Amino acid sequence: MRVRNLPWAKDYLPTQPSYVAKPNEYKGRWKEILQVDTLHLEIGSGKGDYWLAMSEQYPNEGWIGLERNTSIAALALKKAEGSFQKNRLFICQDAKDLNEWFEKGELDVIHLNFSDPWPKKRNTKRRLTYRTFLEVYRNLLSDHGKVIMKTDNTQLFEFSLLEFQECRFHLEEVYLDFRKEDHPEDAISEYELKFMKQDHPIYRGIWRK
Ligand SMILES: C[S@@+](CC[C@H](N)C(=O)[O-])C[C@H]1O[C@@H](n2cnc3c(N)ncnc32)[C@H](O)[C@@H]1O
Repeated sequence: MRVRNLPWAKDYLPTQPSYVAKPNEYKGRWKEILQVDTLHLEIGSGKGDYWLAMSEQYPNEGWIGLERNTSIAALALKKAEGSFQKNRLFICQDAKDLNEWFEKGELDVIHLNFSDPWPKKRNTKRRLTYRTFLEVYRNLLSDHGKVIMKTDNTQLFEFSLLEFQECRFHLEEVYLDFRKEDHPEDAISEYELKFMKQDHPIYRGIWRK
């Protein structure tokens, strides 16, 4: 996602009630703080459409958005302005440090929506479904935890199927054209809407730990 650098973003983030500046201070206490039994993490939330919609649709569950780009994170929190909900929080950092912010087994669902595909081989390790990430997810997920991935990208989806298998996740559901039918239970992300408008099929997989 390309967004020009927004000079106000850095100062704006700490003014927002959903923003978590030091997620390591919440480690092991996210559910208690959000007063929920189920905790979702969306990695690479972009401008926050999915995070916002899902936290409104499922107010009794906890929703954490994670976006590493400061300007994009600020746009996500701008959208949330004026509709404060106590079941959602937002982190502006890189997913490489997940272990520092979450306790083993603390997460119930990890959402990967239209993650950057990093098509060049030399960038394989940056993909959010590369095995080193999947091992971290496995450790942070609860016993019946799951990862839900959506993408338009065939190569990334094929790559991910193999990586999840390699890391002993169980493929529970797979869709090759997820939006062919209505799915009101699942919000549409910004990228998803773009691809739907182009009639591009959306892949979706659900993997259990
Ligand atoms: C292609 S966009 C998709 C945005 C949104 N999920 C959607 O579906 O519309 C991917 C986003 O993930 C973020 N991202 C990529 N790698 C990340 C990482 N390691 N940690 C946190 N965010 C990341 C990027 O900055 C970008 O905003």
